[in-house]
Amino acid sequence: MRKPIIVGNWKMNKTMKETKDFIDAVDGAAASENAVFGIGAPFTALSTAVAAAKNLVIAAENCHFEDSGAFTGEVSVPMLQEVGVTHCIIGHSERRTMFGDTDETVNKKAKRLIEAGITPILCIGETEAQYDAGESEKVIRDQLTGSLADMCPKCVADIVIAYEPIWAIGTGKSASVEIAENCCRIVRDQVKVMYGEEAAEKVRIQYGGSVKPNNIAEYMAQPDIDGALIGGASLKADSFIEIIEKTK
Ligand code: G3H
Repeated sequence: MRKPIIVGNWKMNKTMKETKDFIDAVDGAAASENAVFGIGAPFTALSTAVAAAKNLVIAAENCHFEDSGAFTGEVSVPMLQEVGVTHCIIGHSERRTMFGDTDETVNKKAKRLIEAGITPILCIGETEAQYDAGESEKVIRDQLTGSLADMCPKCVADIVIAYEPIWAIGTGKSASVEIAENCCRIVRDQVKVMYGEEAAEKVRIQYGGSVKPNNIAEYMAQPDIDGALIGGASLKADSFIEIIEKTK
């Protein structure tokens, strides 16, 4: 009943021309009734991406929670609405580590996006030290408690949550299927604790961290994994098409 959602997160990669070339090459493969495929692109490439995509959904990689004001270098949700994106990645670990995002700001961003009708892809995940200390479950529950605070159950049901263990991002050291499924099950349980069974059953949960064409199928076969947030393997058209084909 949950439609799978696979999103590439390009991070700080691709010019407008590279974006157009990629979408022209990939968009046809992304036509599907059974799953949603998309790309998270840098702000400068979003207009190009939205104009070129017929099947791929287009996500921003961040937003500010205020609509306007003295926030040099930031982009607001109304600006994203005007560009026409349907999704927005928030709280990625790179934003939390390097740019000061917190559960509190992620929560504000999620609320503003929902109000605007843009689907948040809300990222959480533990560090390697937390994983080694056996703290993954506590970190997941704490991050969700803060990031999903004070929202309506129906709103939470429509969010996409990306569980991305930081130790698996860009390392080639993907989490085992068992770890990924167990942590995504904890995510679903925490949504149930906070917002009830219906929200927990509807919310879509992605795994992210060194997902490639050769491991996507095993993650997608897990009951609590509804999709993936993909960095490196989303940058080349042929590998992203392979991931799409293995998910359809
Ligand atoms: O948002 C995507 C994640 O950071 C995963 O990146 O697939 O290169 O490990 P990766």
